[in-house]
Amino acid sequence: MAIAVSRDGHVATVTMDRPEALNAFDLEQLEALLAALRGLRDERDIRCAILTGAGAKAFAAGADIKRMAAMGPQEGEAFGRLGHAVADAIEALPQPVIAAVNGYAFGGGCELALACDIRLCSENAVFAQPEVTLGIPPGWGGTQRLPRLVGPGLAAELIFTGRRVGAEEALRIGLVNAVYPPGGLTDATRALAERIAANSPRAVRAAKSAMARAFAGEPKAGLATEIVLFASAFATEDQKAGMRAFVEKRKPEFTGA
Ligand code: CAA
Repeated sequence: MAIAVSRDGHVATVTMDRPEALNAFDLEQLEALLAALRGLRDERDIRCAILTGAGAKAFAAGADIKRMAAMGPQEGEAFGRLGHAVADAIEALPQPVIAAVNGYAFGGGCELALACDIRLCSENAVFAQPEVTLGIPPGWGGTQRLPRLVGPGLAAELIFTGRRVGAEEALRIGLVNAVYPPGGLTDATRALAERIAANSPRAVRAAKSAMARAFAGEPKAGLATEIVLFASAFATEDQKAGMRAFVEKRKPEFTGA
């Protein structure tokens, strides 16, 4: 199953499970995640949700590059919109969502973690927005949510270089709240979720909804711009060169065309 949802008491855990691609997202997996999140929205008994990746290696390695490699602008736009819908659904869930980042969180994987309310990670977690190395800009909210979290200067460096951020740096720059040994992440996340779930669900939902107002207005216009720019990147030679090089396991050469 690509997306698994389990419930224990007042806590739901949503697991991205596509091991052959390090939990990278194709259309089907994105749609399944969207449906799972929308299902949780009306579950009054669920007071906190956890988003994590199956296996010990990856949270999610981003959007599926093998699928994207052949896309044109229209398909790119549809893929961008679907990724946005998933990130928005995380943000719009009335319950708090904790990302338990258990390995690689690259591209769209990092962007979905950014849409969660809280991020915890394991010592082997690695974050990156490597889209520009593939010939496209970030497309699932990273251009708007990363600067909000780590500040515009650092976000610019990370997005313009695509460089990787390990767990220790992620903690230092505020990308995650805490780091745990790989074997301890699940229990620590569960303990935090239960602590949240023990509080008034009505008050917690009210607080989440009020905090969401800080992201209303201009950033929404930014998200709309991001989709347009992400889609138009699929009309470029650089996107073909970058993604073909990934699929063929070699370094790309970008011409800017
Ligand atoms: N899409 C499709 N397949 C992927 C993938 C992705 N994003 N990430 C990993 N895979 C596949 C690999 O191709 C490989 O498949 P094969 O065995 O068939 O070759 C399998 O998963 C295992 O991956 P690796 O052998 O590469 O594992 P590794 O441990 O050597 O490296 C990694 C791990 C550093 C995460 C590396 O896989 C990698 O760099 N992946 C790409 C990550 C990436 O660039 N993500 C951003 C995508 S763009 C995006 O998300 C756009 C957006 O804004 C929405």
